[in-house]
Amino acid sequence: MTRGTALVTGANKGIGRETAAALGRAGFRVGVGSRDPGLGAEAVDQLRGEGIDAFLVPLDVSDDASVTAAAAGWTGGLDVLVNNAGTSAGALERPSATSVERVRTVFETNVIGVLRATNAFLPLLLRSAAPRVVNVTSSMGSLTLQHDELPGSGPVDGAYGPSKTALNALTLQYARELARTPVLVNAVCPGYTATEFTGFSGARTPAQAAAVVVRLATVGHDGPRGGFFDESGALPW
Ligand SMILES: NC(=O)c1ccc[n+]([C@@H]2O[C@H](COP(=O)([O-])OP(=O)(O)OC[C@H]3O[C@@H](n4cnc5c(N)ncnc54)[C@H](OP(=O)(O)O)[C@@H]3O)[C@@H](O)[C@H]2O)c1
Repeated sequence: MTRGTALVTGANKGIGRETAAALGRAGFRVGVGSRDPGLGAEAVDQLRGEGIDAFLVPLDVSDDASVTAAAAGWTGGLDVLVNNAGTSAGALERPSATSVERVRTVFETNVIGVLRATNAFLPLLLRSAAPRVVNVTSSMGSLTLQHDELPGSGPVDGAYGPSKTALNALTLQYARELARTPVLVNAVCPGYTATEFTGFSGARTPAQAAAVVVRLATVGHDGPRGGFFDESGALPW
């Protein structure tokens, strides 16, 4: 029995692909968002080979026309939107070495891209009986954790962390706007995971990272609104 339809942005690889797989195993029909249709089609083929009801959604969240076309071409309902697509647009850099151009690129995808995709698909979500939005963010966006790290030895960056802080703020604003609707909007940190994004460093697999994303994507009606979570529970803003 189908549990409905989900859309995962940036699902051709990494945590997004494993989120699509896990949602599929949980009974969802899954739209595999991919800005490269060829890579997206390969992921869809692989997921179908795993028995998942997957379909390709060409989708570049940094491009108005692409997002508009994806929403216009959508058929049927939408119950879950996972805003997973994200980038650091290169290596992390000290703020004093971060270019304005890189900040623009990162914010265009990580923040504006989430607004663009969410606004395009919200009318469909509002027609669902159990709509959920999960924004894939990072502990690097937590002002509290970053402040606690002072002076710290962890990574610093002028673009990626601030973009995830802005995404957390956007998550809260959507949660407030939609507080009297069934749409539950939450932010999730998947944890440090071996993907192309991290140069495949670390022991954590994309499938492990996807688990907490899927938990919030499938949470019941009494689930949280405007929360920030990792696999261990609530994170400080
Ligand atoms: N890995 C970690 O340790 C970690 C930790 C905290 C948070 N995160 C977050 O988790 C999410 C997934 O990251 P990942 O580790 O799975 O990285 P990844 O393997 O590099 O995957 C990123 C995905 O986002 C897509 N993407 C980038 N820009 C896009 C755009 N403008 N439009 C549509 N898709 C776009 C990529 O597409 P292409 O293949 O075309 O580039 C790819 O499918 C990101 O939001 C990241 O910030 C990751």
